[in-house]
Amino acid sequence: MNNLHIVDHPLIKHKLSIMRNKDTGPKEFRELLNEITLLLTYEASRNLPTIEVEVETPLTITKGEMVEDKKITIVPILRAGLGMLDGVLSLVPNASVGFLGVFRDPDTLMPIEYYVKFPPLTEDHQIIIVDPMLATGRSMSHAIKQVKKHGGKHIILMCLIAAPEGVSVVIQDHPDVEIYTAALDEKLNDKAYIIPGLGDAGDRLYRTK
Ligand code: URA
Repeated sequence: MNNLHIVDHPLIKHKLSIMRNKDTGPKEFRELLNEITLLLTYEASRNLPTIEVEVETPLTITKGEMVEDKKITIVPILRAGLGMLDGVLSLVPNASVGFLGVFRDPDTLMPIEYYVKFPPLTEDHQIIIVDPMLATGRSMSHAIKQVKKHGGKHIILMCLIAAPEGVSVVIQDHPDVEIYTAALDEKLNDKAYIIPGLGDAGDRLYRTK
């Protein structure tokens, strides 16, 4: 599983342990998700292409390198993906944002799409899809398919917790995509929740239960 990067860092482990705790409230949960997203973005952006620029310092002219952040598009999968959007945007503030609304049918567990709004995507764009929980992988695989259909080619997926089942589905359907996660958990339960996981990320972000 060369495409799977489990970002191993004491700060991520510390913050994720607080997020997993059932007694952690939405304010702290949102703040921690934002902080972990910053750390994941640092790692996931390591291979972004740079362009050479000329910079005039107070003393001389020198060469620098810059990321073409206008060619980066972040795609949060609604709604839990919104919890990771600001974390990425704070490091790449000129990125564009595309939105994809997908929920999973509770009976079939298949993804049902209800909203798509992407900026123009081209082959030289870097697309970062964010969703905290990679569970069955079906919504994520659907999202990647949509991004490709709209012209995206270079795709990174960032999540907080992945289940082995979801990772396998995404890698099988899209072997060209790199996956960055803060943790790889044990398994899914019979309702497709990640074990040990942290429960329903959307509900915990927005106190909807
Ligand atoms: N989505 C969640 O929010 N949590 C899970 O455990 C699985 C999918």
